[in-house]
Amino acid sequence: MTETNPFAELNEATGTGIVVDPYAKFEELLSETPVWEGKLSALFGLPEMTIPGTEHSRHFTALSHEAVTQVLLDGATFSSSGYANSMGLVMGHSILEMDEPEHRTYRDLLKHAFTLKAMGRWRAEIVEPIVNKRVDALAGQSRAELIGDLTFPFPIQVIAAMLGLPEADLPEFHRLAVELISISVDIERGLIASQSLRDYFAGIVEQRRSKPGTDLISMLVEAELDGKRLTDEEIFAFLRLLLPAGAETTYRSSSNLLAGLLDNPDQLAALRDDRSLMKQTIEEGLRWEPPLTTIVRTATRDADVCGVTIPAEAQVTVCLGAANHDATRYEDPHTFNIHRKARTHLAFATGAHTCLGLHLARMETDVALTAVLDRLPNLRKDPEVDDVVITGLMFRAPSQLTVRLD
Ligand code: HEM
Repeated sequence: MTETNPFAELNEATGTGIVVDPYAKFEELLSETPVWEGKLSALFGLPEMTIPGTEHSRHFTALSHEAVTQVLLDGATFSSSGYANSMGLVMGHSILEMDEPEHRTYRDLLKHAFTLKAMGRWRAEIVEPIVNKRVDALAGQSRAELIGDLTFPFPIQVIAAMLGLPEADLPEFHRLAVELISISVDIERGLIASQSLRDYFAGIVEQRRSKPGTDLISMLVEAELDGKRLTDEEIFAFLRLLLPAGAETTYRSSSNLLAGLLDNPDQLAALRDDRSLMKQTIEEGLRWEPPLTTIVRTATRDADVCGVTIPAEAQVTVCLGAANHDATRYEDPHTFNIHRKARTHLAFATGAHTCLGLHLARMETDVALTAVLDRLPNLRKDPEVDDVVITGLMFRAPSQLTVRLD
């Protein structure tokens, strides 16, 4: 049997190494219309990922900041239910695919571990020890590759620790998480991964029901709102959503941010000297290279979006990447500039489905970047290694971040 590499396969299917600069194309489309009728994958020559049941639907892509915002703020017209036929097949019925009022009920049950207030505990008990151990191991070396050594492994380690899983289970758990979202590459394997994760979590949920601890699974088991508690299946669906939602995105966003800083040593030095720039640096990284450039919605009725009619049942790609580079909102949008005038971006989406993990993602990035700046004082690009290039269409990240530390 041939060995497969689910990490590499997902990358390939989503344009890694193929799509280098989607932003020029987004800009070209946006100069013609705020909402374009067509599919981005076809435009970039990538395999078509047609959601079952939508073969005959018309397809639109919202590009401008205004169009993307309008679609995301109107969940009644632009439903999230389409995910039931893609991600939902392997995740189960999670909040990602729910519309109101069901979505609000479940989100309220799940949100406690992700509030800004909850971050203090996760930061001190989990994120700092994990990140600092990894960065300490690099201090004293003359070279490092920051993706393999830091940004790829740490976010899944953080989620596993929040869930209270044994460290030895991590490699298998990480592989299953990536196989789960690779259903567009291999649906059968995605379904098997989904079942394996369910079986794995079943034992743990049962254990926490009889003896709750302070971890996230115990919090989910004990969560109660108006007398309602989560069933085991509801907990499994949320856990299966959490893995890719929390690990793939944060690994990519922290890699992209480091790439931006390494390519702009003056900005890296400015941040090193003045840590009050940290918050805006993290936001600029998310605006400039959001790890996830597109999400999807389905029109429930005819709608006008910035002058374009989107008919009922149309599939709508919501292009967060194009919106974050909309020149009518951001000056010189393709340039990474931590000093730019602060304006909110859409990397975490907006509206009812705004990323539930945004405080966690920001805190993790803050911890990682702080550790890198504090413990690796001579960090810079390695001049002997090829330039860092961020690639991909739906998911974006550099393939390597080789640096000098001496
Ligand atoms: C920089 C890192 C991250 C980015 C850019 C990001 C981006 C997003 C986006 C765009 C959505 C909206 C999806 C949609 O409506 O179709 C979303 C939803 C979500 N994210 Fe994140 N995410 C990040 C990190 C995280 C982390 C660390 C977690 C938790 C561990 C997380 C958990 C979730 C969950 C549970 C949802 C579903 C929310 C809902 O449907 O109400 N995310 N994220």
